Amino acid sequence: MYYIGCVSLCLSVSFTVVVPHDQSVAHVGSIVILPCWISPPENAEALEIRWYRHDQFSSPVLFYQHGKIQDVQEESYRDRSSLTRWSDKSGGLKDGDVSLRLEKLRIQDAGSFHCYVSGESEYDSGEVFLKVTALGSAPVLFPQPLDDGRMNITCKSSGWYPEPDVTWMSDERTVLRPGGVSRSRGADEMFSVHSWTAVSHLDAHLVSCSMSLKTGEFRESRIDIQAVIPSDPWKALFFTLLICALLGLTGLILYKYRHKLTGKKTGKEGN
Ligand SMILES: *[C@@H]1O[C@H](CO)[C@@H](O)[C@H](O)[C@H]1NC(C)=O
Repeated sequence: MYYIGCVSLCLSVSFTVVVPHDQSVAHVGSIVILPCWISPPENAEALEIRWYRHDQFSSPVLFYQHGKIQDVQEESYRDRSSLTRWSDKSGGLKDGDVSLRLEKLRIQDAGSFHCYVSGESEYDSGEVFLKVTALGSAPVLFPQPLDDGRMNITCKSSGWYPEPDVTWMSDERTVLRPGGVSRSRGADEMFSVHSWTAVSHLDAHLVSCSMSLKTGEFRESRIDIQAVIPSDPWKALFFTLLICALLGLTGLILYKYRHKLTGKKTGKEGN
C-alpha cells in the first residue's frame, strides 16, 4: 500500500487493493471477470480506477473517473471492457468492487493486468493474471491400409491454444507411440495438429486419439480398426472356391446315389 501524505484535514480512510493469487483462465471468444477490490470496503464511485497492461498507463484498458468511464481506452479494448461485480454477493462499486469484465477474449489478452485505484491522496494497485485457452475441434481420424498389413491412422484437429499434447491409446489401456506429430499455426494464432500412428489389427481393436491442454481439458475420438480392415481378396477367393467345391461334391454324391435312391423307391413300389 502506498500512502501519500494525508494532511490533518484529509478525511479519506486508507485502503489496500486486493486481487486473487490464482490466475483467471478463460476461453477465446468468451467473457472473463478479472477480480479486484479495495479493502476495507468503501464506496469507490468517487475514486479513480484504472485498468492497464504492461506500461500503458495512459492508454488503459479501462479508465473510470468523476463517476463515469472515460473515453481514453486502448483501441483493442474499446467496447469490450467494463466494470462489473465480482460475484452476485458483491455490492459493486459502492462496496469497493472494481472488477473488470472483458468480452470477446483474444489470445493477445493473455498476460497481466494492473488494477490501479487512486483517491484524493493515496493509491494502490494489484496485478491480475489471465490465461487464455482455446479448445480445438474434435479430432478427425482416418485409416489407410499399409503394405505390411498394418493400418496407418491419421488424427487431425484445429483451433487450439496453446499447443495441445497428443496421446494415442489402444483399447483404452496401452499408450501407442505416434509415428509423427506436426503442428502449424494459423493467421488467427491457433494451432492445428496432425499426428499418425501405425497399428496392427492383431494388437488393437479400439484406437483413440486425444488432444489435451494443461488445464485438463481435452477432446478425443476413437476408431474401431477391426471394422475398417479391408477384406482380404485371397481369403475371399479361398472361401468362394471352398463353397464351390462343397457344392460340387454334394452334387456328385447325389448324382452317384441317384440310382440307389430311385432303385430303393422302385423296389419299394415293387413290394
Ligand atoms: C501415415 O500417413 C501420414 C499422413 O497422414 C504420412 O505422413 C505417414 O508417412 C504415413 N505413415 C506410413 C508408415 O506410411
